[in-house]
Amino acid sequence: MLALAAEVKANRFGHRPLEGPQTVAVIFDKSSTRTRVSFAVGIADLGGQPLIIQTGDSQLAGKESVADSARVFERQVAAIVWRTFAQSGLEEMAAGTTVPVVNALSDEFHPCQLLADLQTIKEHKGALAGLTVVFLGDGRSNMAHSYLLACATAGMHVRISAPAHYQPDPAVVTRAQAIAAKTGGSASVVIDPREATTGADVVVTDTWVSMGVESEKAERVAAFASYSVDADLMSLAKPDAVFMHCLPAYRGYEVSADVLDGPQSIIWDEAENRLHAQKALLIWLLRQKG
Ligand code: CP
Ligand code: NVA
Repeated sequence: MLALAAEVKANRFGHRPLEGPQTVAVIFDKSSTRTRVSFAVGIADLGGQPLIIQTGDSQLAGKESVADSARVFERQVAAIVWRTFAQSGLEEMAAGTTVPVVNALSDEFHPCQLLADLQTIKEHKGALAGLTVVFLGDGRSNMAHSYLLACATAGMHVRISAPAHYQPDPAVVTRAQAIAAKTGGSASVVIDPREATTGADVVVTDTWVSMGVESEKAERVAAFASYSVDADLMSLAKPDAVFMHCLPAYRGYEVSADVLDGPQSIIWDEAENRLHAQKALLIWLLRQKG
């Protein structure tokens, strides 16, 4: 997938699997800038047409079942991309339709972001296997979970550093460790942020207040204070370590402005690669479908 993403990036208009144009439904139950833009642009680049749907304007918002909606979509679109709350909704959609269903972020996972993140790390560091990645902050978040699974798959050493009350889902950690046992990577949880960051090649964070938990903001800001990525914490990582953030970022909270906007930050490459990585994903899925 990453090799295809690199090829797509080098030859932006060279793949036209959606020529027609065929339509891809891109559905949002939550806000988005990067995901909306990158899927809309990417689908157009592939010769297709994006149909952006805000759930609130559709019958999906608790009115019509996911299964019935899936059957309506599959008669007309080439693929469904959906940003939603519970992962179970996506699984119900995928089970109810013959067209590919892409997770554009759920409460539990953000896999499209990880494709882009791995592409970006590869561009800056060469081979992925053997690199050490630390994710600091909300260990229960979609990003922490997807970091565990994606880095384990790539043979990397991934450490999640989160306060005791915000640990990743143990089932996801166990799954990542099982994958890592086969790839030569590792997956661990290290509560102390300084210990976790020491010697890292890649330092990653995300908002402390993901979409859906806004009412917990005050308690989260207090709980995560020592996990803020600032110059002092970055100095514990390798001297050539890179800093990543899926964005949107909140300067002064999960990351200081000098790190986010500093020389080690590769956030704009990361944001751009959403386009290339997701195009590769769509090309691959459409090939599988035949
Ligand atoms: N990183 C990311 O998914 O950004 P958006 O919420 O803007 O899509
Ligand atoms: N963890 C964040 C990611 C935003 C792209 C959220 O779910 O809000």
